[in-house]
Amino acid sequence: MLSVEEKQEIAKMLEACPMPRAGCIEALTVVQRHRGWVSDEGVIDVAALLGMTPAEVDSVATFYNFIFRGPVGRHVVLLCDSISCWVMGYENLLDHLKTKLGVEPGGTSADGRFTLLPNVCLGACDEAPAMMVDDELYGRLTPAKIDEILERYP
Ligand code: FES
Repeated sequence: MLSVEEKQEIAKMLEACPMPRAGCIEALTVVQRHRGWVSDEGVIDVAALLGMTPAEVDSVATFYNFIFRGPVGRHVVLLCDSISCWVMGYENLLDHLKTKLGVEPGGTSADGRFTLLPNVCLGACDEAPAMMVDDELYGRLTPAKIDEILERYP
C-alpha cells in the first residue's frame, strides 16, 4: 500500500498533468525514491491511483530504464553499451566492473553497495565511454577512473 507521503507527492505531481496516466513515470519515480525499487505491489498501487491497469503501468516501468523492477544495491551503475561507448571500450570497462564488483550484469555486489546494469545511450556520446552512478553522469572512462569514481559512493 502506498504511504501517505507517497500519495501526497504523487498527487502534487499530478496537478501538472492533463490526465492522471500522463504522470505514470513520475508516480513510479516517487515510489522508487521511497523504496529503492518498484515491486509488483507498487505497480498495482500506482495503477489503482491513476486509473490504469497493472499491465499498462508495468509496460511503462519496464520500458523506462531508470525504473527498477527488482531490488538494487545502495547505488546503481548504468554502463552505456550503445555504439559510441561500445567503440570506445565498453567491453573492457564491463570486464573491469564485473571483476571489481564480483557480479554479472544485473547483479548486486555482495556488500549490497552496487548494482551493475548495462544501459542504452546516456546522451553523452561525445564523452564516450560513459556511465551513470545514481543520478551522476561520468564520461571519458578508464578502469582507473572508474575505481576513483566508485570510491565516492559508500
Ligand atoms: S553511446 Fe554511450 S552515451 Fe551515447
